[in-house]
Amino acid sequence: MNKTVQKNLDYKKFVVDSNLQYFKPHASKIEKTFADEISFSLDRNSKFIPPKFFYDKRGSDLFETICSLPEYYPTRTEIQILKNLQDELPSFIDESFRLVELGSGASVKTRLILDIFTKLQSKTEYFPIDISEILTESSEQLLRDYDSLHITGIVDTYEGGLEFLKNYDDKKNLILFLGSSFGNFSHSDGKEFLEKINSTMKSGDLFLIGLDLVKDSEILESAYDDSQGVTAKFNLNVLSRINDELDADFNLNNFSHHSLYNKEDQRIEMYLKSLVNQSVLISKSNLLLDLKKNELIHTEYSHKYTLEQINDLLESTGFKINHVWLDDKTYFSLTLVSKN
Ligand code: AVJ
Repeated sequence: MNKTVQKNLDYKKFVVDSNLQYFKPHASKIEKTFADEISFSLDRNSKFIPPKFFYDKRGSDLFETICSLPEYYPTRTEIQILKNLQDELPSFIDESFRLVELGSGASVKTRLILDIFTKLQSKTEYFPIDISEILTESSEQLLRDYDSLHITGIVDTYEGGLEFLKNYDDKKNLILFLGSSFGNFSHSDGKEFLEKINSTMKSGDLFLIGLDLVKDSEILESAYDDSQGVTAKFNLNVLSRINDELDADFNLNNFSHHSLYNKEDQRIEMYLKSLVNQSVLISKSNLLLDLKKNELIHTEYSHKYTLEQINDLLESTGFKINHVWLDDKTYFSLTLVSKN
């Protein structure tokens, strides 16, 4: 009872039809957070913009374009592994499982898992959790293609979505976290996040996580600085978003995309570089931002892992490893775990 009241305070429920409903946090909550987080992250010496802000509509579309670039190996590699799961995942799930996805985006890869679920189940429940409105578009598309699908979309952060899911009901969940999105987290935040997922799970629930593996620096660097400049556009788009939503006056011509592979820390680092000395007004954050020529705004980490690190990370955060799937070049991994 309490739970329901709590939910209704934080989220607005939209029922589209008997197969589709959404929960969205109240708009005021989101806007305040964005303006505040931007003033917090830019009003300091080492400036950054959290990567979750990449994903407005245009950013989500640009990310989908990145996924099909020849240099961006993670998506097609993960798809290859997911195809190989068709025969092996069914032995881990049954009629009683619901599919939950963190950062579902366009739900393209999800289809490969939904193929498995809908073959096994007469009715399949899918809970996509995504910060972007792209969720509504992709959900409607999914319902056109899967008759037995019931979707409850949660337009919120991972944390918000997990909180929503916690003790929602007794149904078993398979939680998907694909694409190596986890790589955005620092090591300590990542551990904390895995512990959060673990504490959201009931015994019997499953968690499938896709993680990118350490490989040759050149392959990594070209994946994050493609020849068509889509990644550059994606990175710069966050400034357009701040212009639009926070009444700012970033001139995108005064910035460039900068990315590198930090071998020691096993991560791609992405920045926006200020090409001139400049000041930018971000009205809704109450901030007049001074940037020096060549000053960097950090926008993303994309961590890469060894198989041993993945094993240690999951075991140290309370999971038991059920299975690890790899592609033939060992570029990418999918690991299925349960609560220990
Ligand atoms: C969505 C975080 C997995 O790190 O590879 C792609 C984002 N940034 N190209 C990644 C991204 C630049 C992507 N993740």
